Amino acid sequence: MNGFQRNVLLPKWKRMCSEGPYDFVVVNGDLVDGLNYKERGMGMWTHSLDLQAENAAHLLNCISVQPEAPIYVIGGTVYHVEANPGIDQVVAEKLAALGKNVKYCGLEQILEIEKQKFHFSHWVSDSIYDGTSLSKEILMSKKHDIKVTGMFRGHRHHYGFYSDGFRFAAMLPAWKGRDAYVQKRGMRYATTQIGWVTLTVGKEYWNVQPTVWNIDDAIPTVSLGKKKETFAKEK
Ligand SMILES: [Fe+2]
Repeated sequence: MNGFQRNVLLPKWKRMCSEGPYDFVVVNGDLVDGLNYKERGMGMWTHSLDLQAENAAHLLNCISVQPEAPIYVIGGTVYHVEANPGIDQVVAEKLAALGKNVKYCGLEQILEIEKQKFHFSHWVSDSIYDGTSLSKEILMSKKHDIKVTGMFRGHRHHYGFYSDGFRFAAMLPAWKGRDAYVQKRGMRYATTQIGWVTLTVGKEYWNVQPTVWNIDDAIPTVSLGKKKETFAKEK
């Protein structure tokens, strides 16, 4: 583990795990880093996809859930998890072997709770502006008459939310720091956030509660000759 993983990611992951027991968990794709091939594999703690999957399963196994609570795994992108075989599915199988009630869902899944439907998939509609992407999801779901209360998306590694009062679309944070790919692209990807989102559903009621941290201040900082590694503070 590097300093960021040890000092920032792990304590926050443990906090998420301990805030259960949750009634259900959805892991919305890209469960491992993969080969990082655009950076020729630079910065990876291991290039073994099997080891990455093994560790992902053990980390997910730490999440406090109700007995037999379902854990749904959605498939992510070829860049991280390949398509055939899909490493997200491998993680799901390894987590099931640890005794959890896991279902690998493929690339999308609707979850019905209290007669309300919530749609999960990893990709999000195109636009650099989060609000546009999320409102496109709502517009398209209406256009194609897909009856959902809410949609959850990933991929952007930060939280976002849009609602027209009837439906909502939310973008989920991630559990990854700034790799070389992100560092090279300036501010476009500076808004990386880590964290999770809690969905509470009742009769004709829903609430989406994000718990997120910015990691923009994980950018190495040098102050006048004194080199200091900095990490995200709780905000
Ligand atoms: Fe992604």
